[in-house]
Amino acid sequence: MNGREGIPNADRFAFGKNWRSFLSVVDEERIRDAQTSLCDFLGLESLAGMRFLDVGSGSGLFSLAARRLGAEVHSFDYDPESVKCAEDLKRRYFPDDPDWRIEQGSVLDRDFMENLGQFDVCYAWGVLHHTGSLWQALSNVHVAVVEGGLLFVGIYNDQDVVSAIWERIKRTYCSGELGRTICTAVFYPAFFLSGLVIDVLHLRNPARRYKEHKRRHRGMSLVHDWKDWLGGYPYEPARPQRVISFFENLGYTLSKFKRPEYGFGNNEFLLKKEKREAR
Ligand SMILES: C[S@@+](CC[C@H](N)C(=O)[O-])C[C@H]1O[C@@H](n2cnc3c(N)ncnc32)[C@H](O)[C@@H]1O
Repeated sequence: MNGREGIPNADRFAFGKNWRSFLSVVDEERIRDAQTSLCDFLGLESLAGMRFLDVGSGSGLFSLAARRLGAEVHSFDYDPESVKCAEDLKRRYFPDDPDWRIEQGSVLDRDFMENLGQFDVCYAWGVLHHTGSLWQALSNVHVAVVEGGLLFVGIYNDQDVVSAIWERIKRTYCSGELGRTICTAVFYPAFFLSGLVIDVLHLRNPARRYKEHKRRHRGMSLVHDWKDWLGGYPYEPARPQRVISFFENLGYTLSKFKRPEYGFGNNEFLLKKEKREAR
């Protein structure tokens, strides 16, 4: 256990392992989809001349996308296997590039966050609710955003009792081999069949769900997303208004907000850190 984390590593989902498997399907199309998702939500065509912080970089795909869009990139993740994934992508696409730095670190480590410096764009998508201490993570990420800069966060939507049930399922998945096997055996077919039923009822070709997932979901892969969702623990969802109020109190304004398609999944927030008035 890392003293700053609160949750033993043995009880956490092995995100890096899932990202390692995802790397085998990363191709030009996925990279372009990731770039498009960044540009669309940020409302920017390029990140040239900007400093981009990828908090909990996972596979490293969004660091790569930001680097391709011209930003100077700093990636970090708590899971050493995720760090290796970003390093692999860097080796593949930007070997020896001094403008893309990658390291292991935790967003819960205040000293680490303060020493990173400040960034024009901080990207923390699907990360802070997995730290074990969401509100501390939100407060720590704030110190890395420059005045006038943008914070793009994705945080799981709190659905009360539904979220409480998912929390139990995720905890079971992460409890060991037996829990993982049971959850996988029950939920993979359930995810598959529920998608099939929805598609048939809407007279849609069920194969499109798999083909179009990457374009509609930031270059991601549906099966890797199932696993990430099923196992993703720690899990601490939040109501959107709580997140918005939290950042408004820190001097941010909400520029954009997007709800998840079916209620569960990430609420996406684009927040601008206002410049303080000169006294
Ligand atoms: C669901 S993945 C999201 C990855 C990436 N941001 C994306 O959008 O695809 C969550 C990532 O957060 C990382 N993470 C969890 N706790 C963290 C912490 N305290 N500090 C930094 N990263 C953390 C995990 O290791 C994992 O790679």
